[in-house]
Amino acid sequence: MQNFSSFMDKLWQHYISYTPSAKKVVDRLEQRGEKIINDHIALRTINLPGIGVEDLAKVFTPYGFREGGQYQFKEKKLFAKHYEHDDPTLPKIFISELLLENFSTTTQQTIRDAVKHVTKEQIASTDFLCSGVHWPIEHKVYQHLYKESEYAAWVYAFGFRPNHFTININALEGFAGCADLNEFLKSAGFVLNASGGEIKGGPHEYLEQSSLMADYAPVAFKDEKATIPCCYVEFAKRFPLANGKLYQGFVAASADKIFESTHHYK
Ligand code: NI
Repeated sequence: MQNFSSFMDKLWQHYISYTPSAKKVVDRLEQRGEKIINDHIALRTINLPGIGVEDLAKVFTPYGFREGGQYQFKEKKLFAKHYEHDDPTLPKIFISELLLENFSTTTQQTIRDAVKHVTKEQIASTDFLCSGVHWPIEHKVYQHLYKESEYAAWVYAFGFRPNHFTININALEGFAGCADLNEFLKSAGFVLNASGGEIKGGPHEYLEQSSLMADYAPVAFKDEKATIPCCYVEFAKRFPLANGKLYQGFVAASADKIFESTHHYK
């Protein structure tokens, strides 16, 4: 087993290869003397045998991560769990899955046909989380899926890869919360996710979040090349609970809107 920090570094290097805005934001903040800490990474999958939330979590449990909370997303028909570590300097892992049985038979069949190409050996490897798609993809199928579920279309087009990393605002010296950080990001030309407002949550939820809209990435679909929203960077500030410890969970209502960072916007 490779050590956790090299595993995370591999995920980060892979992630910034298709999320250049994340690298740009980190560079901008570091130029101001900030030290960047990752609050959590997020992964997306489907609730099918072998690739569900708990299957993907198996890569993290040997490092000492354990389940910390579960979340329902009724409208988007998603379910998620987060995993956390006793060492508070390590990022949390947020894994969501599409509840496939709630979708049309066409969507169910398309997704089932795609993921049957994934082998058990591939899933067991730490490289799996950087492995992308394991099936042939078509733009017309992506567009069809997008109409029913943006999330389903995203997993179909991009497969298994970190969906976002999250800059921990508590660790920033020059920013009090999402409000001033968002202003800084906008003045630098970055596009924020404004769904449900630019700031999701707040002190009452013990978690305040914002995110950029996803970078568009070129995808070589079988039928035609297309450039579509891929991955993004998120920002999170955590507030102390009554016991003085920072809240370590997530807020479903906020995450629901953060998911929309991969919607088409151009
Ligand atoms: Ni997140």
